Formats: sequence, structure tokens, C-alpha cells
Amino acid sequence: MALFYTEEVIQEVVAANDIVDIVSGYVKLKRVGRGFVGICPFHNEKTPSFSVSQDKQLYHCFGCGAGGTVIQFIMSIEGLDFIEAVKFLAERAGIHLPEGNSDGDEARRFEKKQLALNINKEAAHFFHKCLMSDEGRYAREYLENRGIKPKTIISFGLGFSPNSWDALFKHLINCGYTVQDILDVGLIVENKNKNTYYDRFRNRIMFPIIDVRGNVVGFGGRVMGDSKPKYLNSPETIVFNKSRNLYGLNFAKNSKKNQLIVVEGYMDVISLHQNGIINTVASLGTALTPEQAKMIARFCSEVVIAYDSDEAGQAATIKGIEVLSEAGCKVKVLVLDEGKDPDEFIRSRGVERFEKAVKNSKSHIEYKIDLLKTKYDINDIEQKIAFVNAIAKIFAAVDNAVERDAYVKRISEKTGISSQAIFTEIEKIASKNSYKNKKNLKLKPVRPAESIPQKEYLIKTQKPESNVKLLNAEKMLLNLLCYDKSVFNAVKGMIGPKDFTYKVHAKMAEVIYDLREKGINFDAARLISMFEDEEVKQVTSILHMETFFDDNNDAAMELIDTIKKEKTMKGILSSLKEGNVEKLQALLIEYKGLQND
Ligand code: UTP
Ligand code: MN
Repeated sequence: MALFYTEEVIQEVVAANDIVDIVSGYVKLKRVGRGFVGICPFHNEKTPSFSVSQDKQLYHCFGCGAGGTVIQFIMSIEGLDFIEAVKFLAERAGIHLPEGNSDGDEARRFEKKQLALNINKEAAHFFHKCLMSDEGRYAREYLENRGIKPKTIISFGLGFSPNSWDALFKHLINCGYTVQDILDVGLIVENKNKNTYYDRFRNRIMFPIIDVRGNVVGFGGRVMGDSKPKYLNSPETIVFNKSRNLYGLNFAKNSKKNQLIVVEGYMDVISLHQNGIINTVASLGTALTPEQAKMIARFCSEVVIAYDSDEAGQAATIKGIEVLSEAGCKVKVLVLDEGKDPDEFIRSRGVERFEKAVKNSKSHIEYKIDLLKTKYDINDIEQKIAFVNAIAKIFAAVDNAVERDAYVKRISEKTGISSQAIFTEIEKIASKNSYKNKKNLKLKPVRPAESIPQKEYLIKTQKPESNVKLLNAEKMLLNLLCYDKSVFNAVKGMIGPKDFTYKVHAKMAEVIYDLREKGINFDAARLISMFEDEEVKQVTSILHMETFFDDNNDAAMELIDTIKKEKTMKGILSSLKEGNVEKLQALLIEYKGLQND
């Protein structure tokens, strides 16, 4: 990868941001031995398998394999690309970055993103100006009728797209942007037959979608009458991914509350914000995605889902409960009266009533039970059995026994079904579940580094078809070569990068050999900066290992021995399969020689 910033600049930024410091801003870390452990923010877990090494300035999750330096951490947790993460960390440490160098894929992508954001910003200004001008009079009236105050129009940057085929298109061309660039951000649409272009948004109220860093990433546009579609949204672009954005989060993140209210639409967010309830975001019409749930979980621990009460809203609520619980949030549900959404509710009943309703929102268990009650007729014996079965499933997932008891008691009182019958069903389901969980545990080690012997961990995480001994020996040797210069000097004549069996290992060895030959001092972070994506995780898992040998050189010799033997054995097995007798004989002799050494 041709780098946007020089190696030196990147290393300076990494060095200025201590990894324990940075990670602590997102994950509660506990010191264990020489390192730190915590609950992994990148996958759902109950026992910590996320480990951070201050000595090495690396993080690694033994559960999901995530890992890298402080740069990869910020990339993943803030959803940034490489260059953005470097900028983020430089800013945090007060480092002034020099101009970047613009070749390389990473740099081109970064520049394309910047360009897209600039075009969006320009378009947002244009729409806003149109709303405030004469041609926006009707649109302003529409907003006024819906109770939107001028101050709110300004803070949300609302706008109006003129009733014309190319007003925005012409404006952006005049600003110097190319047709292709405007097309790429989805603001114009190509008219295939005539090879002409027209504005995507026409005669609509415009809602700029702004991310947590204040960038305009896309737009929603609403018709002012009854025509369809009611809302039109930007398509997916290099800067707009619907499943990774939440409307209103740029404001909601400043709320001091440890609670977010999730609503369906643009107008709900705006209306609640205008009434001082700023801890509100919208999932933009779709059911919440796991990415959105993770973003939410970073800002608060309790979520109140306040979707419309129609069929679609109920389905989206059930899905929302699932993904938010998965992300670790406590979930409650605010049930609105038939046909009302939060905007309508607050306009007809006022803020106090809404706040009270939030306070009284149901736990997600209660919500599910109430929903089930409407779906079964418990006077019918068959439906009654199905009902008990369905609620038992919900109760079985409640960890807390006291809480579960209370629910069972309440439902028993309300339905006349005996508590005993419900408990029996719960037990049946619970025992099935625990069997499933046990099976899963065997497949996935999720214990922290310090509590799990290295060897055991290495063996557990290998695919069954790979040669575990060979794989582990290569890993350990690479670890030693990286951290111990004397090991490199002792073994460089005995083994070279090409002797490593696994592709990433060979590449890693090549990089280490190259740096050592040139006499360049390096650390784990520097090494990692030379790899990309999936490779980073593998390289990190090797560098993150702690090796405790009495004598590193002796250990390296033994590891080389293992590597050679295992490789020869691998050759023997494959020549057997191929029926290649000559090769087999030669390898057997070689193997014997190795054993006698
Ligand atoms: P709703 O139909 O509930 O609209 O869609 P709303 O938010 O109450 O809007 P108003 O009050 O009538 O103005 C909820 C959300 O679903 C998405 C939008 O994000 C909307 O805010 N949606 C809806 C679309 O993307 N396209 C549509 O055609 C309709
Ligand atoms: Mn509405």
C-alpha cells in the first residue's frame, strides 16, 4: 500500500496515543498480570476475552480475532478508514499533520470521500437557501403548519428542493463539480435514453442526514402532498450507508442521559428535539441493524423503542429488541396509541405526557407478553397451550430468577394458568438451551489470554485440517524473530522467509528479515502498519503472544527443528497420496536425518 502519510508520521501518531488510554475510553479495562482485559466491543460476550498489551501497544480479542494497533482500534470502533483514523488520533494528541501524498488506493478513497462530503454540504446549503427564499414560501408554510419553528429549521439545516428538473444540477456544475462526481453522490439521476441528467430531489422538504462528526452524508426528501413515495432518500454512496447511520445522533450524542429513544422517522426526531427531548434518534424507516445497535450501545445503556403501533412498527420493535439486546443494551418499549407516532403524540398531548409515557415504558419482556396476549385466545385449550409455550420461551431467556418469578406470577394471576405449568415449560426449554450452549462452548474458546495457557489456546483456535504443530512453531518463531534481535542473528542462516509454510507467515518473515538486514529498529506497531485488513488480525495474534522461554535462542533452534520435521512429514504424506515413490524415499531419508540430529 502506498501510504498517504509517511511511515514516520504514522509512527509518531501511534506513539502519541497510548493504547490503554484510548481503549479505556470505550471499554472498561481491568489489569490482569502484565496486561489488561475487558469485554470485547466488537462482538457480544459475557466473559472478557479482549486483551490489551501496554508493552506492545496492541489489542487482540481471543474470541472474535479482532486485533491491531491503536489505529485499527479507532478504525473499527469509530467506523473510520485508515487515513481518517490517523487524523482522528493526531488531532487528539495535538499533532499537526503534514499534507498527505495522493497516490495509493487508500488516499484516492479518502479524497473521493472528501469530495462527496463537500458536494453534499454545498447541496445542503443550496436547499436551505431555497427554503428561505421566495420559491420556498409554500414549503415554509408546510413546516409551520406541522409546528416546526424557524430555529429548528436552522439547527437541523432543513431545506427545499425546487420544483425544477435541474436547479441543483446546474448549481453544482457552476460550483465546478463534474457530472460524474454529482452522479456518484446520488444527487442527480441519469436519463438513460437521452444521455441527460435530472435532480433526484424535486419539490420536496429536504432533511440533510448528518453523521456524528458533522458531515452531511445523505438526504431524505418529503413530498408536501400525498404523492408517493412520501420520502425519497439518498442511495448508498461512498459516504452514505443507511445501516450505519442514525438520524439525529449528531445532537443526541450530547445528551447527558444514559438513555436513547429510538423512533421511526425524521419528523419524530425533529419534533422531540424541538421539545427538548434531544436523546432521540431515528433508524430511518428500516428495522434497526446490528451496526446501528452497536453505535447506540456506545452512547447509552438503556434504549426506549418508540415505533408506530402498526403491524410494521411491531415487527420492527421485535427486531429492534433482538439487535439491541445483542449489543448489550437494556431495552424498553413505549407503546403509543393506535395510529399515533411520537410526533403526533407530543403535538396533541404535550411534552409532559410524553415524558411520563417514556418513564412508564414497558420492559421488553412485558411488551412481548402483551403482544402475545393479543394473538392467542386463551379460552381455547389448544391456543392456551401454544400461548404458554410461547411465553415460556420468553421467560427462559430471563437470567434473573427473581425477575422471572415475578413475571410468572403476574401472568398466572392474569390468565388463570398455574405458575407450576409455566415453570415446567420454562424448564423444558432451559434444559434444551443449556445443551446447545455447552456444545457451542467447546467450539469457541472465549477466555482471556492470561487465564488460558498459551499452548491450549493455540491448539483450540486451529482449523482441524491444519497442521497444528507446524502452525504453532512458525508463530512462536516469528514472535521471537520480531522481539529478539539475537534470535534473528542466530537463525538467519538456518531458515529463510520462503521456508515458512503459511502465506501470511512467509510475508511476515520477509518483512522482519528485511528490516533486520537493514538494521532498522522496529516495534509491533511498525510491523503491523505493513499489513492490511485480515492479515492485520493474524499478524497481531502472533505479536500479541507472550513467550516465556529460559533461553530464546535454544527455543528458536527447537522450533526450527519442529518446522523442518513437520514440513518433511507433510511432504511424506502428500507423496504417499500421490504415489510418488521417488519423492517418498528421498523425504524418508531426510526425515531420518532430522531425527538423528
Ligand atoms: P412514516 O411513514 O411513519 O412517516 O415513515 P413519518 O416519519 O411519520 O413522516 P410524516 O410525519 O408523515 O412526515 C417513517 C420513516 O420511514 C422512512 C422515513 O425515514 C420516515 O421518516 N420512509 C417512509 C421512507 O424512507 N420512505 C417512505 O416512502 C416512507
Ligand atoms: Mn409522522
